[in-house]
Amino acid sequence: MTRLPTFIRRESPFGADVTELRPGFAAATMNRLVVISNRVPLPDSGPRAGGLAVALDGLMEKRGGMWFGWSGKVSPVAAESGTQVARHGGVDYATTDLTPEEHDRYYNGFSNAVLWPLLHSMPDLIQYDRTDAQIYRDVNARMAREVQALIGPDDLVWVHDYHLLPLPAALRASGVSNPIGFFLHIPFCAPDVLESVPDMGDLIASLLAADLIGFQTETDMANFAASAVQFANAVRAPGNVLLVDGRRVMLGVFPVEINAQDFAAMAEANARKLPVVRLRQSLPGQTLILGLDRLDPTKGLLQRISGLRRLLETQPAWKRRLTLLQVAAISRKEVGSYRALKAALDRESGNLNADFGEPDWLPLRMISHGVDRATAAGFMRTARVGLVTPLRDGMNLVAKEFVAAQNPQDPGVLILSRFAGAAQQLDAAILVNPHDTDAMAEAMVQAMNMKLGERVERWQSLWNAIEYRTPTAWGRLFLASLLRGAVRSNRLELVGDETQEFAKFG
Ligand code: G6P
Repeated sequence: MTRLPTFIRRESPFGADVTELRPGFAAATMNRLVVISNRVPLPDSGPRAGGLAVALDGLMEKRGGMWFGWSGKVSPVAAESGTQVARHGGVDYATTDLTPEEHDRYYNGFSNAVLWPLLHSMPDLIQYDRTDAQIYRDVNARMAREVQALIGPDDLVWVHDYHLLPLPAALRASGVSNPIGFFLHIPFCAPDVLESVPDMGDLIASLLAADLIGFQTETDMANFAASAVQFANAVRAPGNVLLVDGRRVMLGVFPVEINAQDFAAMAEANARKLPVVRLRQSLPGQTLILGLDRLDPTKGLLQRISGLRRLLETQPAWKRRLTLLQVAAISRKEVGSYRALKAALDRESGNLNADFGEPDWLPLRMISHGVDRATAAGFMRTARVGLVTPLRDGMNLVAKEFVAAQNPQDPGVLILSRFAGAAQQLDAAILVNPHDTDAMAEAMVQAMNMKLGERVERWQSLWNAIEYRTPTAWGRLFLASLLRGAVRSNRLELVGDETQEFAKFG
């Protein structure tokens, strides 16, 4: 059993950004944090694509520790060349390459052509292959062996996302007895959808080797709990606990956050910079509607174009008075469904512009390369409407960033899919069902016509939902829960006077 004599401290090493923490757990993060995720955004590696990088970057910058995962490189000798470690700021980045076969089968194949569509409840996009599933497990086992050698006895281990579902069991098999937390950044589908992929019960059983498993929403947690009971012999116990062979596994909901204050400052500063000024100057007399996404089948990009088409068909007076700027940054381009989506988007955006465009005006600007975060923040502040309408999304941090970026005196309007996890917190947005083309068109018109008073009122309540939250507080809350879970399941022993504090608040 690991003894952590000082893990509960009352003073906060991070200043005053404590939001949801209970007293006594305000700084339960004394021990080194080891984060493990497939994607490791190494410093200077370009724009951060995706919510995982945004949330964890913010946390690791403040918290420090070790971050282990894929280097982003593919090499035929990956399995033999081992882990490379580089220190930047307070973070040791420990990375490993993938072989071409691992990249093809673990990353493109089982992770992104099976688990990603499955867990987003889009089973028709699944491309299952039994060998991919085996190599997915093999890569998890290799990663466990490599990282095990770097984990110290007092470290807290935090595994992230769907690429690494079997990692907790693989770590235990490699001899890691430290507390292990797992956080799923994407949704978790209902049990009947989960059955579309063979052997998901085994993967869930492997994940249940963690002490705490965190989700973005209550729905995701409920779907997981039902699946664990149905397919992995888990038994429910009171208080979001599953019993697995008599061992306690805690479940919890921890919505991912951004640092809203920092993002607001970045948006204000960047709204005056050249790329944003040039964008504004290119839109005389027009309302800017903005979408910023990875090019991904879950993001509802084709449905957005259909919505804009419906708007221009039914309300031609809007011609020349609006522009939709859609950044759809190329992502996972070797996966079939992503390639098919790129082709369909090119076709549909070309058709829309050909059908409704004028010699001196086009309704849609579709861009398939990413924009750096600072410029994106400036674009958001300039836009009158933010269009965040995924078909399904774990959280969607772009929605939170759009709110943070607004000028409080003259804010833009957020149109948000009710199927994004963010809709649970941001219910003052215009909520839409992206499959309902008429509703999408109506929402855009409603947003463009919205008077200042209503815009300010809605924005204020959106801002209230994110203002004091940060990735650091999110991480601290998760780690505090992990420690509590680890003590309750006897993985950790508490010693010293602080035992009483713990008992009081635990
Ligand atoms: C989502 C996932 C992350 C992933 C990111 C970017 O946010 O939850 O795990 O890193 O997309 O995708 P990529 O395949 O480029 O890592």
